[in-house]
Parts: sequence; structure tokens; C-alpha cells
Amino acid sequence: MTQSHTVADDLESVAARVDAAVAAVAKLEPSAQAVALELKQAIEAFHKLALTTMVRHLKQDPRGKELLLELVADPAVYALLVMHGIVRADPLTRARRVLDNARPYMQSHGGDAELVDVRDGVAYLRLHGSCNGCSLSAFTLRKHVEEVLLREVPEISRLEVLTDQPAPTILRPEAQMSPDETKGWVRGPAVSEVPSGQMMSIPTERGNVLIVNLANRLSAYRNACAHQGRPLDGGMLDPENGTLTCPWHGFCFDVASGECLTAPQAQLEPFPLRVVDGIIWVRPQ
Ligand code: FES
Repeated sequence: MTQSHTVADDLESVAARVDAAVAAVAKLEPSAQAVALELKQAIEAFHKLALTTMVRHLKQDPRGKELLLELVADPAVYALLVMHGIVRADPLTRARRVLDNARPYMQSHGGDAELVDVRDGVAYLRLHGSCNGCSLSAFTLRKHVEEVLLREVPEISRLEVLTDQPAPTILRPEAQMSPDETKGWVRGPAVSEVPSGQMMSIPTERGNVLIVNLANRLSAYRNACAHQGRPLDGGMLDPENGTLTCPWHGFCFDVASGECLTAPQAQLEPFPLRVVDGIIWVRPQ
């Protein structure tokens, strides 16, 4: 039975139908392929002609220009116009527009976000007000911004929050001690493998250990959130506030102390950490 399709088809399913049809055409005899391709090109040329006329008319009227901008914010309309070369792919402009639309929601919760750039699939943002920090609402707002940007601007695959990071400092000299492997020290990665602003989970016999590098200060904790024990390595590090936010339910922790800032009675389990000859050693208890 033929599957029926409606205007409710989303962009993904429509694109999948097109891909499937193109793949089927590629398997046809050369003469049939040529006919199918000619049909495809003729329909596309027809659509391009009509779309170009529509866009030209819209651009001639101030209200039309506004409508056009609204239309281009729709991923399906945008994809169609880009395919026909009628609009230029400009993720930065569209991301700004998406953020403008999300702004009333952010501001109603006391927050804001500023889009600095979009480059190589990454949107660089600065967060303000209650979007910044480590409360549950800040986490929710950041999630909201991320969701709308990734959904509305397919060229963006991830966000990066810009901060005024302090200049890198050298690792604590007191950490430069010889590891005594007989006392349970476990060799971890090289320091260069955990650059500033990143974290890494390493397996040990006593469970996974999370190594965090915040502004070139290394810390080690059991990789288990103090809320429900889930892993923290997919969480969000905020170098400006020195916090780590759990990806599961948004509990926020002070990276230097492991103290939970969302539920003060909770605490991450810290482990001793040393650096010897550029190698990180941890001692899970
Ligand atoms: S498991 Fe981390 S906040 Fe729930």
C-alpha cells in the first residue's frame, strides 16, 4: 500500500523521501535515469522561477521584507530557498534572529544571551543575568537557548559559552610529588589531554574518576553526582563561576570544593590528585 503524505510531513521525512527517490533513480537504466533527471530539473526550474518572482515582489514592499525574514526563519522554507540559490546561507544572521525570538522568554526569566559569532558549526555566546550561573533556572534557560538554536539553524551543531577567562596559571607546585603506587595511586591521562575548561572520566578499580581542569586547576572527584549518582562527565563547566552543572537534573557544584550549590547538604566525593612529569595521578578511596 502506498504511504500517504500530508502537509504535516516534517522537513526530515520530506528530505528522506527525496533522498530515497534520488537513490531509486540512480538504480534505473541510463535512459530512464535521464528522463527522471530531466523531469526533476524541469520541476526545480519551474519552482525556482515562481519562488524568485515571489521573493522579488516581497522584497519591494517593507511589510513583504519583514514577512520574508519571518519565512526564511522556517527551516523548510530556508532549505528550499538555499537549494535554489535564492538566499545565501547565513547561519549568523539566522541564529541572531532565532535568539531575538527567544529573548522575550529569557528576559521574562531575568536572563539574556548575546550571540558573538557562528563559525564551523559552533555558535559562540555570552550569557547574562539568570542565564549565567549555576541555578537550576540558569541551566534550564541555557538548555532552551541550545535547543532552539540547534533546531532552527541546522548548521549549528553545538554552543560554546564565552567567558572572560583568567590567564592560564601553572599547576599547583605542591602537586609535583612522586606518586607512591603502593598507596593506591592510579595513573591517569597526560595533563595535555585534559586542557583548561575540559574534563575526563577515567575508569579505575574503585569506580570512575572525573578529572576536571578549570582554568588550569585540576581536581578529581568520583564521577557520580551527589543527587542520584549519575555520571557528571556530560555536564556543563562554567569557568567564570567555577561550577560544574550535572547534565541529568541540573544540580550545580563548586569545582574547587565539590560543594553542591543547588542542595547545600550534597557534596561530590573528592580524591587526591598529583601531577608528575606531566602525568595526572589520582587516588580513589
Ligand atoms: S543526578 Fe545529577 S542532578 Fe540528578
